[in-house]
Amino acid sequence: MKIVVIQGPNLNMLGVREQQVYGSMKLEQIHSQMRDFAAQSGLEIEFFQSNLEGEIVDKIQECYGDAQGIIINAAAYTHTSIAIRDAISAVNLPTIEVHISNIHRREEFRKQNMIAPVCTSSIVGFGPFGYHLSMVGMIQIMNEIKAVQEMQKQQAPQAE
Ligand code: DQA
Repeated sequence: MKIVVIQGPNLNMLGVREQQVYGSMKLEQIHSQMRDFAAQSGLEIEFFQSNLEGEIVDKIQECYGDAQGIIINAAAYTHTSIAIRDAISAVNLPTIEVHISNIHRREEFRKQNMIAPVCTSSIVGFGPFGYHLSMVGMIQIMNEIKAVQEMQKQQAPQAE
C-alpha cells in the first residue's frame, strides 16, 4: 500500500518560519520520522513539497492509479484553492489533511477551508505530531476499506 505525502507552500521553511506557531522541527526531520513509521508498518511512502499550486494539482492527479491514500498539508492554499480541492475530489482517494497549527483559533482568513469538505478527515493543532497521527489514521481507514471489501466478496453471489 502506497501513501503520498503532499506539502504545500512555505512548509520547506519549517524550523525557520514562525517557530512559535510551527515549532522547530524541519520538514526533513518530520519526513524522516514518517519514513521510519511507514517502514515499521509495511507502507510505501513518497514525499512531495511544492510552493506552486499547479504542481500540487499535478501531484494529486498522479496519485490516481498509483497510490492508495494521500496525506496533504496544502498550507496557505487550504484557504484559497478550488483547483486543489477539485483535484482531491477528482482522484477520490482516502485523503487526510494535516495542519500543524490549529487553524480554527488563528486569523479569520484561516477559518475558510476549501480542502476539508473533500477530505476523509482533518488533523489540526497537534504540531508536527499531527503527521504521525495522520499515518495512524490512514492505516485505520485502509483496514476499514479492506474489511468492507472482504465482506462484499463474501456476500457476492458465487458464480455457477
Ligand atoms: C498551515 C496553516 C496555514 O494557514 C498556513 O498558511 C500554513 C501552515 C499549518 O500547517 O498549520 O502555511 O497549513
